[in-house]
Amino acid sequence: MEKKILLTGDRPTGRLHIGHYFGSLINRVKLQEEYESYILVADVQALTDNFNNPEKVRKNVREVVLDYLSVGIDPNKATIYLQSMIPEVAELTVFYSNLVTIARLQRNPTVKTEIAQKKEIFGESVTYGFLGYPVSQAADITAFDATIVPVGEDQLPLIEQCREIVRKFNSIYGDILKEPEAYLSNGKRIKGLDGNEKMGKSLGNAIYLSDEPEEITKKVMGAVTDPKRIKKDDKGNPDICMVNYYHNLFSSKEECNEVCSECREGKRGCVACKKQLANNIIETLRPIREKRKYYEERPELVDKILIDGSNRAREKAKETIKKVKKAMKLDYFEN
Ligand code: TRP
Repeated sequence: MEKKILLTGDRPTGRLHIGHYFGSLINRVKLQEEYESYILVADVQALTDNFNNPEKVRKNVREVVLDYLSVGIDPNKATIYLQSMIPEVAELTVFYSNLVTIARLQRNPTVKTEIAQKKEIFGESVTYGFLGYPVSQAADITAFDATIVPVGEDQLPLIEQCREIVRKFNSIYGDILKEPEAYLSNGKRIKGLDGNEKMGKSLGNAIYLSDEPEEITKKVMGAVTDPKRIKKDDKGNPDICMVNYYHNLFSSKEECNEVCSECREGKRGCVACKKQLANNIIETLRPIREKRKYYEERPELVDKILIDGSNRAREKAKETIKKVKKAMKLDYFEN
């Protein structure tokens, strides 16, 4: 039986952190066994809101690929590729743009939220490119006949919009495109070290997969704990302590129980508790860090993975564009 096709990816705007790890990366590593997987580094999409900072996007392409490889995305199982190396995706974007109204794009909840957050780059009027990125994302997905798109909740409106484009295309030009489904990564959403609901670079509350042990310790030492607990023998409330929250992710059940009860009884100080947590995080991430080092020391291997992946991906996208152009009566000189 043919494997179903899965496609997902990230904008290369920063290194990936443990939020990405628990939220989506672990899942991708599992799913690559079951699906024909395409993992895209969405550099063109990253430029839609970083067009004035191409250096940032370029630099982070490599970081994101290193993060993928370090967590175990296997280039022999999954195709890791660079969006800008697939010009067919840009072509599809142009064709699909006739099938979407401006009003519909402006109503897309994800786009709407992002525009509101990006006033400093867009000012009072958003660019055509940013407003239209859901169209280009539809091209990303359909170019590969992907039917499974693992994403977080925030991306659901984009998948919905892609499905609408597919239906519209097929109703006009014939049954060519596959309608994808979002696959909600049942991963956890990880709070920041400061207790913020979201972990993010701009918030400065993230532990990166590439952080060195000293950095991890320093960050954990600054994590937010029960503010009422000042002295070591004050009775603490682990339910409102980020250190306890992270113990639940990185420490054994027994350790968690011990840490919790000693905190409640005022028997364990926050510093000892944080040191223990930092060590567990350092140990959990050790194999990831080591794998990352291996690839960091072999940049030509990483280049090769990305080039081979992009070539493979392009072959697939070429098949789709051929079918699409034929259906749209743009196949002038083909027999
Ligand atoms: N929009 C996604 C993000 O911001 C990245 C992305 C681009 C993507 N194209 C995609 C995700 C296609 C899934 C499918 O993370």
